[in-house]
Amino acid sequence: MPIITTRRARVTIRCKTQQLSQDSARRDLTKLLLGVKKVITYGTYDLLHEGHINLLRRAKALGDYLIVGVTNDSFDRERGKLNVRNNVLERVEAVKATGFVDQVIIEDYMGQKIDDILKYDVDIFAIGSDWEGKFDYLKEYCEVVYLPRTEGVSSTMLRAESEIIVNIGVVGCGRIARRFIPESAKVDAVRISAIYDTVRSAAESITDDKSLVCDSFEELVERSDAVYIATPHLAHYHQAKYALEHNRHVLCETPLVLRGKEAEELYAIAQQRGLVLMEANKTAYCPAFNHLMTLIKSGLIGDVVGIDASESKLWGEDKLKRELDPNEAGGSLYEMGSYPMLPIIKLFGVDYRNINIYSRMNQNGVDVYTRGIMRYDNGIASFQLGLGVKTEGNLVISGTQGYAYVQSPWWKTDYFELRYEDQNLNKKYFYHWEGHGLRYEIQEFVSCIINHRSHSSRLSPKESIAMAYIMEQFSDRQNVFEI
Ligand code: CTP
Repeated sequence: MPIITTRRARVTIRCKTQQLSQDSARRDLTKLLLGVKKVITYGTYDLLHEGHINLLRRAKALGDYLIVGVTNDSFDRERGKLNVRNNVLERVEAVKATGFVDQVIIEDYMGQKIDDILKYDVDIFAIGSDWEGKFDYLKEYCEVVYLPRTEGVSSTMLRAESEIIVNIGVVGCGRIARRFIPESAKVDAVRISAIYDTVRSAAESITDDKSLVCDSFEELVERSDAVYIATPHLAHYHQAKYALEHNRHVLCETPLVLRGKEAEELYAIAQQRGLVLMEANKTAYCPAFNHLMTLIKSGLIGDVVGIDASESKLWGEDKLKRELDPNEAGGSLYEMGSYPMLPIIKLFGVDYRNINIYSRMNQNGVDVYTRGIMRYDNGIASFQLGLGVKTEGNLVISGTQGYAYVQSPWWKTDYFELRYEDQNLNKKYFYHWEGHGLRYEIQEFVSCIINHRSHSSRLSPKESIAMAYIMEQFSDRQNVFEI
């Protein structure tokens, strides 16, 4: 490009620089005067390898100024990349260290590429040939170049080579375990090593590999590094304790236990032995729910003063047999209560003043419909649960500047809205809820084990223990009003 020397061009440049921030004005000016060719490329750049370095070198060679968009951790999770090893800061540092990059930006959302191309006035979009044709839609905005991909190396391969395999034994072969097995196949580093159910045919019915089926729970523990407990609630405590005392990590279906002291004891054993104990409340690990929590905590609806969450199941009595069995700790609170308690405890904390619980019981003394009201110093929360009773299952979080609305089934959050008095300010957020959504908790569990994190902040021991105390209050019928 020729160097611009005309008076008109100088005037145009002056006007333009007045409108822009200093930084971008400087970049624009350089570009206009020197004919700088800007190239942009994107990627995860996990475990940076030779293929990435070649790609960045080739991309830089296409122009004068290379911008690299590195995907944010949450964006990767959202688009199904669950196994990325390096976090975004490590990946950005690795990309910078190649020496080919002039600017690193973070890729946060779908559709950002067009925004970036316009914003940074990009001339060339470059990407590896594994994406051939996929980005042709960007040709409307700039030149699109597919660069040759380096054969024989990828982050996926490197992750597989350095893989630590976590052998998980599954105990309790009901509906949830049936989903757990295919979901675990979506997570790298996981192998189902053993399956056990007191009814052998139930265990055999959830796997094609009959050699996985064990004769006893003890055998399952023996054959695993970690145990996923999906048995009826009352078995959780003893099984979790046994597995932890035999140095196995534990992922236990929610509710972990029905007594606060038992929860405290289990977390203490896990901590003493350096093991991971996690409560498998699938909503807690879901990307959209976590994003909602961070948005609310960053004040987008002001101070939170109210939280109302509901959940209900209406199936035939035969299908809800265990869930309604008083000998199996059936009932709507034990069965589903930990889901609505989750946003309440995450946002208001564990220090509530009191809880009043109102339950409609069936002829067997099991609550089929329960409402709870929790009083905090600065807010009020309520939950509504139905088992064999149907109600709207949404989540509403009320704040001093607006409210969050998550439609039913909010516990599988894939969409929510932040709403304000001035409707023009309303915002909608969309996400994917992949499969049955269990892959997020499995991924977090395995990540805690591999990275030696004793617990997950998505549902901390403190929060899990608080939920167990609420279950206990209900078990002891304290402030519980039956109708
Ligand atoms: N790339 C390449 N040669 C390779 C691997 C990646 O040229 N052997 C390119 C990709 O085409 C892309 C950029 O590097 O333009 C970033 O890719 P990324 O998805 O981060 O790397 P992969 O190794 O392909 O990661 P994964 O295995 O997780 O998909």
